Amino acid sequence: MNKLEGKIALITGGTSGIGLATARLFREQGAQLVLTGRDAGRIAATAAEFGEHALVLRSEAGNLADIDALVAQTKARYGRLDVLFLNAAVTNPAPIGHVTEAMFDEVFNVNVKGEFFTIQKALPLMGEGGAIVVTTSITNRTGSPNFPIYGASKAALRSLVQSLSLALIPQGIRINSICPGPVDTGGFQRLPLPPEVHSAVKADISGRSPIKRFATPEEIAKVALFLASDDSAYVVGEEIVVDGGITHVCLP
Ligand SMILES: NC(=O)c1ccc[n+]([C@@H]2O[C@H](COP(=O)([O-])OP(=O)(O)OC[C@H]3O[C@@H](n4cnc5c(N)ncnc54)[C@H](OP(=O)(O)O)[C@@H]3O)[C@@H](O)[C@H]2O)c1
Repeated sequence: MNKLEGKIALITGGTSGIGLATARLFREQGAQLVLTGRDAGRIAATAAEFGEHALVLRSEAGNLADIDALVAQTKARYGRLDVLFLNAAVTNPAPIGHVTEAMFDEVFNVNVKGEFFTIQKALPLMGEGGAIVVTTSITNRTGSPNFPIYGASKAALRSLVQSLSLALIPQGIRINSICPGPVDTGGFQRLPLPPEVHSAVKADISGRSPIKRFATPEEIAKVALFLASDDSAYVVGEEIVVDGGITHVCLP
């Protein structure tokens, strides 16, 4: 049986990587979709791929007016929302000396403030049986000197999920998070690095991982489906690590 038959699912950052792989899996499982992104080419390609089954919108995840419009358009098209997957994020990697105020503000604006207010504003469309899923990152659990602000923003999300789970469960709405390790996505491939540095970073991370490779976006999408569906009906306020074991590694 399809796990999301007849459900309405909104995925932020649904035009690339983990979000796009999850959109494909949710669609296979019977959901109708609302997907967001920023890049016009990726929005057009995603809209063409899903046709009548998805509303694909340009929506800046940290902009409250865009969030209002996103919720209004979801309501106008479908009248309700069953699954909210908050997945769009910015990374802005830099060691402490290179972090600017603008970089700091962008990360917290998109990754924390935007996600909080998207939940707040989408809640009136959700009801008993609703599921909210948030993408965090292993950088919120491990020290990561080149991702200090990003990791801190994801740690804030982990905390929000715990608090909001208690606020939302009386309404029958569950919120949980997925904590990926390295995933081979468009976002990773588009990191502004020379090709040889890119390959070296990938080889280094894979070599340190117990499983010796990156995840595919599809492997993360399967966990998103678990948390979005009734298969996880008794899972509340949890963070599921999906990292091939890399956070268990204790380096000498
Ligand atoms: N890849 C990894 O190794 C990894 C590891 C741990 C956690 N994660 C988390 O997984 C999630 C997805 O990452 P990914 O690797 O799949 O990235 P991706 O391939 O770059 O996709 C990111 C998606 O989010 C959208 N997006 C980014 N910033 C946005 C903004 N400010 N407003 C609206 N949409 C925005 C992008 O749209 P545009 O392309 O149009 O901007 C795109 O659709 C993120 O939360 C990330 O932190 C990734």
